[in-house]
Amino acid sequence: MFLKHCQYLRPVSISLSPNTEKDDIFLALKLLFQPWKWKNGKNCAAAQKLPDLLEEKFKKYLGIKEAIFFNSGRSAFLAILKSLDLKQGDEILLQAFTCNAAVNPIIWADLRPVFVDCDEKTFNIDIEDLKRKITPRSRTVMIQHTFGLPADIDEILEICRKNNLILIEDCAHSLGAEYKGKKVGAFGRAAFFSFSRDKIISSVYGGMAVANDERLAKKIKEFQEKIDYPSYFWIFQQLLHPILMNYLILPTYSIFGKYLLVLLQWLRILSKAIHQKEKRGKKPGYFPKRLPNVLAILTLNQFKKLEKFNEHRQKITDFYYNELKKINSFESPPNPKDRKQIFLRFTIKHPKARQIIKKAWQKNILLGDWYNSVIVPYDTELEKMQYKPGSCPKAEKLTRETLNLPTHINISKKDTQTIVNFLKLS
Ligand SMILES: Cc1ncc(COP(=O)(O)O)c(C=O)c1O
Repeated sequence: MFLKHCQYLRPVSISLSPNTEKDDIFLALKLLFQPWKWKNGKNCAAAQKLPDLLEEKFKKYLGIKEAIFFNSGRSAFLAILKSLDLKQGDEILLQAFTCNAAVNPIIWADLRPVFVDCDEKTFNIDIEDLKRKITPRSRTVMIQHTFGLPADIDEILEICRKNNLILIEDCAHSLGAEYKGKKVGAFGRAAFFSFSRDKIISSVYGGMAVANDERLAKKIKEFQEKIDYPSYFWIFQQLLHPILMNYLILPTYSIFGKYLLVLLQWLRILSKAIHQKEKRGKKPGYFPKRLPNVLAILTLNQFKKLEKFNEHRQKITDFYYNELKKINSFESPPNPKDRKQIFLRFTIKHPKARQIIKKAWQKNILLGDWYNSVIVPYDTELEKMQYKPGSCPKAEKLTRETLNLPTHINISKKDTQTIVNFLKLS
């Protein structure tokens, strides 16, 4: 009876542990009681082989030479920057309309982020603004493949070649996306992926650096070998996340679950996606760290379901495209024929996007607000990120006009119909 009622309290949600299925929760629960497997799994023969197994799987899947694992995309990006022979103050070009997790590693590495505007249709880096913002101190361009849509890689590679710039791919949103038949992550000198809580696959926290250049890969590996694993308590927080989220917080979300989540995060029993310090450009002590064995086990379990997840995303997306055609007021994202996009989130535009999100929340439909600031979370100090207000006008406009619809495995056909019905009335 209680569980039946809980169905109505559970929100239609884009975030909040979106990829977690029953087997992931049971796995986390089992591992919670096996602390000898948590860090490096030294006492467990199968676990010892796990990093190699994970590495082989990703190398084969992406068609890349080396994959090196960290406790987050942030740590992986920092490792790449530290391995690239860059000098203090060198400029890294990256797009606005991003997360502070993509900016902070640049600051932590004593480099300078230079923000490039964002294309209004694709949400990816604006090519013309990129050309304008190159200076003699520019060394690297980082492209984002925002929401899983591959950027204009050929044109960007040409710009990099002409200006002697290194290309890094931020694939935090785009595991499995393809550009002209080749998986993203295989185009730049290096790339990084994220397995954090609301990405394509998730181990609550986790990340991977990849490189095709063997010399660079060796340096990233050396960097990784010098750093430690995160603490037992940090690992405990991550293991608890899928369990509490799915059995306690989500089923009671609309009465006390949402308050409980805030309380548990405040008490540090559950982790937050972004530490308060990061909003001021500071580095929490748990970055950079290696991927602990136990999170590698969760990642592997999710990786096995990657194709299923992405096929599901595709089906949901087809439904949104068809239905939104009938509602003129929303603009759907482009779907270029030469790329396979993954749609981590199906991002649509409407002049009153912010009000629509608010109205939906009142109906227990938690739509996404990525990105409601040029650098999220909303309360990130832009000055500390070295962002000059007005320097990326298109990105600034997009922050007011975009909202995201969920595509993850726990969104059913019925949920999508509920969302579309709501949008029709907006
Ligand atoms: C665009 C983008 N880049 C990089 C990251 C960093 O990934 P992680 O959370 O694994 O550090 C994120 C996620 O937070 C992101 O959204």
